[in-house]
Amino acid sequence: MRGFFLYLVVLAAVFVIFQIIPSYEKSNPPTDKSKEIELPPKVAEIFKRSCYDCHSNETRWPWYADVAPMKWVVRRDVVEGRKALNFSVWNDYPPQKREKLKRSIYRSVNLAMPLPQYLWLNPEARLSQEDKKIVREWASDGKGYMKIEIR
Ligand code: HEC
Repeated sequence: MRGFFLYLVVLAAVFVIFQIIPSYEKSNPPTDKSKEIELPPKVAEIFKRSCYDCHSNETRWPWYADVAPMKWVVRRDVVEGRKALNFSVWNDYPPQKREKLKRSIYRSVNLAMPLPQYLWLNPEARLSQEDKKIVREWASDGKGYMKIEIR
C-alpha cells in the first residue's frame, strides 16, 4: 500500500515538473484579412474544418494545448504547420511558392494530411473522397489531375 502511495506522489511530481518545462508559444497573431487565401466556398469550408488549426493564424486551441505533455505535440504541430503553409498570409507568398504549395497540397490530401495525431482527437477533420476530389480540383486549377514528380 505504501509503495502504491509513493508511486502516485512520484507521478504527480513528474506531472508538475512537466508543466514548468518551457514549450512553444501559443498564439494567434493578428493578421490582415486581405492576406488570407481566396477560395471557392467549398474548398474554404474543407480547409477551415480540416487544416486551419495548424495552417492558419486562426487556430482553435484545445484545452490540452495548455497541459504538458500534450501541449508539446499540439504547439509544435501548429508552429511547424504554419511555417510550412499558412493560409492566413497566403497573399504574401511569391507566385512561385504558391504554385509549389498547391502541388504539395494536392499530394498531401492523399494520405499525409491532416496529421494522424490530430485526426485521432478531431475525427470530423478527416477528408472524405469527395473532399479530396474538391481539393485536388482546386489545386490543379480545374484540371483534376497533376503530374507529381517523385522527390
Ligand atoms: C495537426 C496539425 C496539422 C493539420 C490539422 C494539418 N497539417 Fe499540414 N502540416 C502540419 C505540419 C506540422 C507540417 C510540416 C511538417 C511536416 O511536413 O510533417 C505540415 C505540412 C503540410 C504541407 C507541406 C508544405 C510544404 O512545405 O510543402 C502541406 C501541403 C500540408 N501540410 C497541407 C495540409 C492540408 C491540406 C491540411 C488539411 C486537409 C493539413 N495540412 C492539416 C500540420 C498539420
